[in-house]
Amino acid sequence: MNMVKQISDLEVGYNVPAAVGMDEADIQTPCLVLDLDALERNIEKMGRFAKEMGVRHRVHGKMHKSVDVALLQEKLGGACGVCCQKVSEAESFARGGIKDVLVSNQVRDAAKIDRLARIPKLGARTICCVDDLANVADLSAAAQKHGTTIECLVEIDCGAGRCGVTTTPAVVEIAKAIDAAPGLVFSGIQAYQGAMQHLDSYEDRKAKIDIAVAMVKDAVDTLKAEGLDCDIVGGGGTGSYYFEGNSGVYNELQCGSYAFMDADYGRILDKNGKRIDQGEWENALFILTSVMSHAKADKAICDAGLKAQSVDSGLPVIYGRDDVTYVKCSDEHGVIADPDGVLKVNDKLKLVPGHCDPTCNVHDWYVGVRNGKVESVWPVTARGLAY
Ligand SMILES: Cc1ncc(COP(=O)(O)O)c(C=O)c1O
Repeated sequence: MNMVKQISDLEVGYNVPAAVGMDEADIQTPCLVLDLDALERNIEKMGRFAKEMGVRHRVHGKMHKSVDVALLQEKLGGACGVCCQKVSEAESFARGGIKDVLVSNQVRDAAKIDRLARIPKLGARTICCVDDLANVADLSAAAQKHGTTIECLVEIDCGAGRCGVTTTPAVVEIAKAIDAAPGLVFSGIQAYQGAMQHLDSYEDRKAKIDIAVAMVKDAVDTLKAEGLDCDIVGGGGTGSYYFEGNSGVYNELQCGSYAFMDADYGRILDKNGKRIDQGEWENALFILTSVMSHAKADKAICDAGLKAQSVDSGLPVIYGRDDVTYVKCSDEHGVIADPDGVLKVNDKLKLVPGHCDPTCNVHDWYVGVRNGKVESVWPVTARGLAY
């Protein structure tokens, strides 16, 4: 995408996999395909859930890195804004017209802090996380330099084992420093329990979130007693949003994967013991791949290998088929077990990726499909942006 200067430079098959109006059958592979009906249903459903629970939904844009998807989440799902993990992602979303952006992460490098402090000039409310007093002075200096305001959430490590402080006194100390710092506004708490999202059992996930909610409640109540109100108490993901949303403590959810779903998330179980990709959420994201060789009777080779996906959370699953299985991959090849020899060269298959976030990050485009036709070709706006 970055090398493309004008839309007229795009050549289907060279630097873009499809054109609007094309038959689904003519899409060039391997590429990411979105089932637009399923995507819209997922987005609308999560919007309804958040509304029913009386909380806002700040969708996690790190998952799709796409301005078009984020705008759809605002339009159809009532999202109040986006979260992202990198300053470069925040810049992409702000430039694309998202007006409320949270970097749900620490920003420590001087050049990155300087860029963060300029994002409000793009017209977006700009929020970041803090877990260290020293960071407060740096953020404040940059905001003053640019005449902007950075809102800050104190991050609590409520079980993820990543960034964040672990005690209420530490939260209060940092919150007070933010509150006193020119150019900064104390806006609340970031508390995402990321380590439990993929636990299979609903009860196991609930037990972890109960601990998180107790920690966050203690911090919010203590801050209130000190005169510091939390406008945002944010966290929650696809495996836990109902716990945070009904906690009476959190007021913003941050779900990402629900919109696309993936094979690893799909395996976790809801409160009735049913997989979450069998009713709660639909698979909307696929890697479209073509069979390019069937030289061995029981094995087909497709064109989606390691460079078309991330396999950190397991291999992709072939959607809607139990007669063939994706069993192995190398850089540009996927090996499919085809014991009955049912596949033919040029057959197309839809793969549900093991892990959607890092898979989207290695593609330039989302090809949106409805009723057998290509309806949209959206850039993965912040694709590969890591700074
Ligand atoms: C800070 C933060 N919030 C929320 C999420 C939720 O994302 P998902 O719904 O994909 O689990 C993530 C994902 O890693 C995250 O890092």
